[in-house]
Amino acid sequence: MLLVTGVSGALGSLVAERLAGRGDVVLGTRAGLPGTRLLDFDAPETLPEAFAGVDTLLLISAGYGEDDTVVARHEAVISAAERAGVRHVVYTSLSGDGDHLTYALAHRWTERRLLRSPTLDWTILRNGLYAEFLTWIAAPDADGRITSPLGEGRLSAVARADLADVAVSVATDPAAHRNRVYELVGERPLGGADLAAALGATYAPGTLADTRAAVAASGAAPFQVPMLASTYSAIAHGFMDGTGVESDLRALLGGREPLDALDVFVRAVRAG
Ligand SMILES: NC(=O)c1ccc[n+]([C@@H]2O[C@H](COP(=O)([O-])OP(=O)(O)OC[C@H]3O[C@@H](n4cnc5c(N)ncnc54)[C@H](OP(=O)(O)O)[C@@H]3O)[C@@H](O)[C@H]2O)c1
Repeated sequence: MLLVTGVSGALGSLVAERLAGRGDVVLGTRAGLPGTRLLDFDAPETLPEAFAGVDTLLLISAGYGEDDTVVARHEAVISAAERAGVRHVVYTSLSGDGDHLTYALAHRWTERRLLRSPTLDWTILRNGLYAEFLTWIAAPDADGRITSPLGEGRLSAVARADLADVAVSVATDPAAHRNRVYELVGERPLGGADLAAALGATYAPGTLADTRAAVAASGAAPFQVPMLASTYSAIAHGFMDGTGVESDLRALLGGREPLDALDVFVRAVRAG
């Protein structure tokens, strides 16, 4: 039996759609949706029941929070999986070129925790930043200007739908992917000028200092300020353009072409 966590989230719901109707799959979420198992990493008492009869766990990272919060969540879920006799955990991590992002720490901690598990097999899906995520960090303002501090940097963004396809393919055949780490970044790096051109906007990159101050003043949680600043800086300074990792995306998509990240970005911006 495969259990997928986090199925009310954007990635988890795409995974759940793809697995709909399968008798050997159960879905877990905090949201209490009909037909799902209640599963909350912040409430570890929910986990033993959620894991009953489960051999394979697709652990969608629960990554919004300070490092100690996220690490505690992931420790709770992995140790509960070990106790429940789960055999294989597939974990959605962060691409290897993302080590300069503040939120890399909790992902690398979780990878290490799985690698050191005395009982679990594992597969690490090192997801690149989503094409949809660009709408958060590089949407045009009301004057049609993208002012995000991306400099001349580019991001090899990847469509969530492609990551969902890979997660389903791996989690439904875990033995074929036992103890493997996969890098899943897009093939076409996008810079601020590309995003602006596709939308008929202009690109006028601001500074990291101005952006950090604006994010801090926007009501963002304190951990989100360095999270976003490190994302801009890593992209602007060339760490996220896909040249630092060898992507397994196309191979794990069965050889098909990944979705066009620019097209996904444009559609997501237009959808609001
Ligand atoms: N690669 C990227 O660009 C990128 C961007 C943003 C985030 N991420 C990471 O990838 C994950 C999935 O992305 P997404 O776009 O689907 O994010 P999302 O839509 O914000 O969903 C958040 C996810 O975190 C889960 N979660 C949060 N707190 C939890 C808890 N206490 N116990 C169990 N699950 C919990 C949610 O599960 P429920 O169904 O229980 O709500 C949901 O699956 C995020 O959580 C984050 O770690 C990646």
